[in-house]
Amino acid sequence: MKSKTTLYFASSIAAIAGLLFGFDTGIISGALLFIRHQFDLDAVASGAVVSCVLLGAMIGAALSGRLTDLLGRRAIVLVISAVFIVGALASSLSTGFITLLVSRVIIGLAIGVGSYSAPLYISELAPVKQRGALVTLNQLAITVGILMSYLINYCFASAGNWRAMFAIGIIPAILLAVGMFFLPESPRWLVVRGRIDEAKKALSRVREISEVEEEVASIVRSVQDHQSISWKKAFAPWVRPVLLLGVLLSFLQQVSGINTVIYYAPVIFKMAGFHSNTTSILATVGVGVMNVLFTIFSIWAVDRLGRRKLLLSGMLGIVICLGVIAYAFHAKNLSVDLKWITLAGLFVYIACFAFSLGAMLWLLVSEIFPLEVRGAAMGIAVAMCWLSNLAVSFSFLPMTKALGMSDTFMIFAVITTIGLVYCYFYTPETRGVSLESIEEHLKARKPLREL
Ligand code: BGC
Repeated sequence: MKSKTTLYFASSIAAIAGLLFGFDTGIISGALLFIRHQFDLDAVASGAVVSCVLLGAMIGAALSGRLTDLLGRRAIVLVISAVFIVGALASSLSTGFITLLVSRVIIGLAIGVGSYSAPLYISELAPVKQRGALVTLNQLAITVGILMSYLINYCFASAGNWRAMFAIGIIPAILLAVGMFFLPESPRWLVVRGRIDEAKKALSRVREISEVEEEVASIVRSVQDHQSISWKKAFAPWVRPVLLLGVLLSFLQQVSGINTVIYYAPVIFKMAGFHSNTTSILATVGVGVMNVLFTIFSIWAVDRLGRRKLLLSGMLGIVICLGVIAYAFHAKNLSVDLKWITLAGLFVYIACFAFSLGAMLWLLVSEIFPLEVRGAAMGIAVAMCWLSNLAVSFSFLPMTKALGMSDTFMIFAVITTIGLVYCYFYTPETRGVSLESIEEHLKARKPLREL
């Protein structure tokens, strides 16, 4: 009982890194409305304020593999909680455009490292059977963080207090630091460092005593086979199909336009005809609630319906909603009805995203890579996710200016349609399949779909 409680406590504490990921990326949606005025920002500068956090995250994700190998998973999470605190303080106190950019990059670095190391820490601590649910807990924390940011935005919107919006991020960062301080290091990392006794001690906090010896022995065996992160092996011919799948899923997650909705929802709602800032932010809270609810649905459904059903049906829903929103904006001078169509379209869109590309990306990426290349391949896929996020978020406002909202959403719809066809043919069903079987399947060079 006690070991289970510690396991859930440890996973929940580590998932606060996911919550900060969601909070610190989502908070900009409301803050931007006021920062734009205060610092007199045009579309490109506003895009930069939103995107610089993503630039930091991309760099952080790319460095994560080495950092987490060097310092340990627990230590690195402790470091990033300090970085989160510094970044939140600095952005809430920023005096101009440049200081704001720099402090948002600092927060971004912490987000990028956290997006890699928190799920890694959870997965290395979790028993095989519970790994799927516990990894998806991290995505749930991301969506809760986004919702929290929307609620904070809403609370401070009437006062226009964007500094307070950023400052609140300090609270979860402190919780992360304090909680992490009392948690064990990843037993797997300790074994890699040759600290076997400490590994046993760490594992005994999250397992029954009778399970510890055997599990540590099996970690020792697997570590002897696969010493450290292997970048070269990540590109070996037998790994390429899954590497491509991981990278493309990351790319597709972002070009579905998710973060144009997450970061710019109030701006979109205003363009659709909801005139007051407060109403737009309130509608955005609705988007956040849908995101959380349908992520919870995905945790329930993923082991019952399987990954493919959720992924493919959700992507189909995304394509339809994007088409509807594009149409609503195409019909110029939105009448009241079309305003509501946009709202409904965005709500259904976010629901479909939550249980498909949202939850399934992070789960599949943690499942499909063979152990010996997991660090490197996951690093590449996660960095791709941030790079695509950066590209889409940065270009969104300039694109809507140049092409209009309708064509911009149409482009997302077309790319997601192509992605849907790709996923239909190449995404394997990993439900109930052991990670070892996935690895054997790949080594036998069988097509992914036949898993
Ligand atoms: C994505 C984020 C996105 C979030 C929305 C995550 O899976 O990686 O970019 O903001 O889902 O819930």
